[in-house]
Amino acid sequence: MTKSILVTGGTGTLGRLVVPLLRDAGHTVRVLSRTGGAAEEDVEYVTADLVENKGVEAAVAGIHTVLHLAGGPKGDDEAARNLVRVAKAADVRHLVYISVIGADRVPLGYFKAKFAAEQAVAESGLPWTTLRAAQFHDLMLTAVDKMTRLPVVPVPGGVRLQPVDVREVAARMAELTLGDPAGLVPDLAGPKVYGMRELSRTYLQARGRRRPMMPVRFPGKAGRAYRAGENLTLQGATVGTRTWEDFLAERVTAK
Ligand SMILES: NC(=O)c1ccc[n+]([C@@H]2O[C@H](COP(=O)([O-])OP(=O)(O)OC[C@H]3O[C@@H](n4cnc5c(N)ncnc54)[C@H](OP(=O)(O)O)[C@@H]3O)[C@@H](O)[C@H]2O)c1
Repeated sequence: MTKSILVTGGTGTLGRLVVPLLRDAGHTVRVLSRTGGAAEEDVEYVTADLVENKGVEAAVAGIHTVLHLAGGPKGDDEAARNLVRVAKAADVRHLVYISVIGADRVPLGYFKAKFAAEQAVAESGLPWTTLRAAQFHDLMLTAVDKMTRLPVVPVPGGVRLQPVDVREVAARMAELTLGDPAGLVPDLAGPKVYGMRELSRTYLQARGRRRPMMPVRFPGKAGRAYRAGENLTLQGATVGTRTWEDFLAERVTAK
């Protein structure tokens, strides 16, 4: 059956990889973002703001499945609540959401907003599926690139990450979107656990640069949560195959 699928955030790092997978599986795709995009065969772009709740009703009209990927540093809770309200009124049949590993455990604003968004989805009364993913390699690349531009690279002690390849997240999101509603599914993490020193060191090596590193303490409750590994899923996760080193080899050249 051909489904009409709305992908919120379908122009983002993850969304632009998911959209062609859904379209190539024979479905019609509508992409929602604040800035839109040029129409392609079987892909329509609409503008709406989920946080401001502008344009959402028109974007959801006639949609069977909503894949909610839009997100930002702030307001993901509000965005999800607005989307859920409209999706219920429009009789959407499946609401699929991407969250982050540790949403329920890491005391930082972004994680709290993702958890509140998860709850809005789970309590919507609509059939739903939510996946918690680890940090994408692309995000880690931006972070380590910034940190390694400093004269001395800060290394928060005890902080570990399980970065995952965004193409593997995209494939899983497409599979979940085309499958039956499944509730909270096993987390998706990368194949290896890295300390911050290792992530920065391997990046610097790939760039052909050197920098001194300095251990720093990540303070407060959030620091304690990270040191306790609350941002990780060490057991029971679906594990990707592409490593951070594979990603660096593809994306980063010495300069
Ligand atoms: N990056 C990670 O490491 C990671 C890890 C786990 C989970 N996630 C989650 O995965 C999702 C996608 O992440 P990403 O890295 O692909 O994000 P991204 O590259 O920043 O893309 C965000 C997308 O959302 C749209 N958007 C942002 N605010 C919006 C609003 N108020 N109304 C409508 N559209 C809005 C953006 O388009 P416009 O700017 O044009 O509106 C864009 O299409 C997010 O929900 C994020 O929390 C990310």
